[in-house]
Amino acid sequence: AKIKAFQKALLDWYDQEGRDLPWRQDHDPYHVMVSELMLQQTQVQTVIPYYQRFIGQFPTVQALAEADEADVLKAWEGLGYYSRAKNLQGAAKQLMADYNGEWPHTAKELQELRGIGPYTAGAIASIAFNQVEPAIDGNAFRVFARLFKIDADIAKPQSREIFDEVIRAVLPQDRPGDFNQAVMDLGSTYMSAKDPDPAHSPVAQFDQSYLDDEVLAYPVKSKK
Ligand code: ADE
Repeated sequence: AKIKAFQKALLDWYDQEGRDLPWRQDHDPYHVMVSELMLQQTQVQTVIPYYQRFIGQFPTVQALAEADEADVLKAWEGLGYYSRAKNLQGAAKQLMADYNGEWPHTAKELQELRGIGPYTAGAIASIAFNQVEPAIDGNAFRVFARLFKIDADIAKPQSREIFDEVIRAVLPQDRPGDFNQAVMDLGSTYMSAKDPDPAHSPVAQFDQSYLDDEVLAYPVKSKK
C-alpha cells in the first residue's frame, strides 16, 4: 500500500507539474534516443534548440542513417562530446541494417546498439515501449539513495545492481516511462544535488533522508 501511495504521489505531481519538454510530445523511440543522448552531458535548456533543429534536419532513423557524417557533426556543433553524434548515427545505421528500421523493444536488445548503455536502453524501453525497466542516471542514483537511505557507494560499479533492484520494486507496471521521467524531474528540482528542497517535494512523506534530516548525506560517493 505504501508503494502504491508513493507511485501515485509521484505520478500525480508529474501529471500536473512535469516539465513540458519537446521530446515529451510523443513517445517515438527515435525522439527518445536523440534527446537522451543529447541530455547525457548537456543541460536541458541547452539541449532544447539543438534537439529541435536536429529532428528538423534528420526527421527519421532512416534520414539520419543516410545523412553525411559531416552534416551530423555540424548539427552537433556546440554540444561537444562528438562521439555521441557518431554513435547516434551508428545506431541509426544498425537499426536500418539489422532491424529493417523496426525497433527492438527490450532493454537487452537496445543495449546492442552503438552508444546505448544501460541507462539509455532503460529510458528508451520504458518511455517508448512501456517496458518495466529502470533508467538509472545520476538523478536516479541521488533520488533513490535519499528516499530509501541507500548506503551503497555510487562510485562503485557494483552499486548499480543494488539500485536496479530497489527501483524495480517500486516501478509501476502501467506507467514505467512516466515514472522514470518524474524521477528525472524530481532530481533536478526538490531533490537536486546542490539546492534541494525536500520539505516541499511531492514525495516528502516517503523521503527517509528528509524525515531523518540527513538529506545531504546521500548519495554516498567515494572519491575516485
Ligand atoms: N535528463 C535525462 N533525460 C531526461 C528527460 N527525458 N527529461 C528531462 N531531463 C532528462
